[in-house]
Amino acid sequence: METPTPLLPTPDHALVWREGRLYLLDQRLLPGRAEFLELNSASATARAIRDMVVRGAPAIGIAAAFGVVLAARDRYAQDGEGWRSPIQADLAELAASRPTAVNLFWALERMSHRLAGLGAGDPTQVLLAEALAIHAEDIAANRRMGELGASLIQGPTAVITPCNAGALATGGYGTALGVIRQGFADGKITRVFADETRPWLQGTRLTAWELTQDGIPVTLQADGAAASLMAQGGIGWVIVGSDRIAANGDVANKIGTYGLAILARYHGIGFMVAAPTSTIDWETPNGAAIPIEERDPDEVLACGGQRLGPAGVGARNPVFDVTPAALVDAIVTERGIVERPTAERMRALLG
Ligand code: MRU
Repeated sequence: METPTPLLPTPDHALVWREGRLYLLDQRLLPGRAEFLELNSASATARAIRDMVVRGAPAIGIAAAFGVVLAARDRYAQDGEGWRSPIQADLAELAASRPTAVNLFWALERMSHRLAGLGAGDPTQVLLAEALAIHAEDIAANRRMGELGASLIQGPTAVITPCNAGALATGGYGTALGVIRQGFADGKITRVFADETRPWLQGTRLTAWELTQDGIPVTLQADGAAASLMAQGGIGWVIVGSDRIAANGDVANKIGTYGLAILARYHGIGFMVAAPTSTIDWETPNGAAIPIEERDPDEVLACGGQRLGPAGVGARNPVFDVTPAALVDAIVTERGIVERPTAERMRALLG
């Protein structure tokens, strides 16, 4: 038997389907350890999403799509032609894993639509083809957004990015980091200032790891250091991803993004959101209607596994915030750029 090629622990191989298993590069361990977790059921996939083994809106959606493939395989093996009713419990479990990233629900909807149209027989291969298409389309969308987003940057300039909206957070290449990759290749971006992004430190652990691997100059800063950096000058853009964009262009993204948008506007710096159209929730009229995930207060009270807050103190831990459309200069999607978004300008994407 042929030995399979080893899994590559690089940002572009964070999510791999191989021989009936889903492999996820465990993002909780990076950058110290690059280890893959092997998943063989829908429940294990839902747990991995909830526990942040995989995170970032598009990557969550892709993982869930593969979770549906695992569910269909198992339900068909167990129940034969009766698989359609029990698989609803798997879809519900996957949907309950994280509430804000709309790509999760978009991917589950697309997979459900596919399975609704299936005839008799083993559903696994058809659903696998759909999940692989979702993955491939996401990478292609990121490449396109990279080109479109970079075309807005005059440069040479430095940029600020929070959290991780890179290859790790997507099918590959990244949304915000896709724009940054293209902007750097074009000589427009000279340096990236990555906000550390408490409490999960996606900037420190993931964005710094990704950009270092690509040889893109990156400097970490505490989240509170962004204002003084902007005041010094030399920052042309703040570039972010998104977990859900409402129909009027309000943008939910990692907690702290709203603050960065206010700072950018005050300092006359551009604020760009790069996100595929699968992140747009046409059913949600505005940001106030976007569900914001609250995670365990212990994530704020501790750091690196060490408890720092005094006993008895509580903590807030909303992990996303909403930036009003009025503070956004451009939403870059694979279908085009929406400048100074409004509901009407957003709708033009549908045309
Ligand atoms: O809590 P996370 O790490 O899943 O949050 C991720 C973000 O906020 C990203 O910016 C967003 O999902 C866009 S990823 C291309």
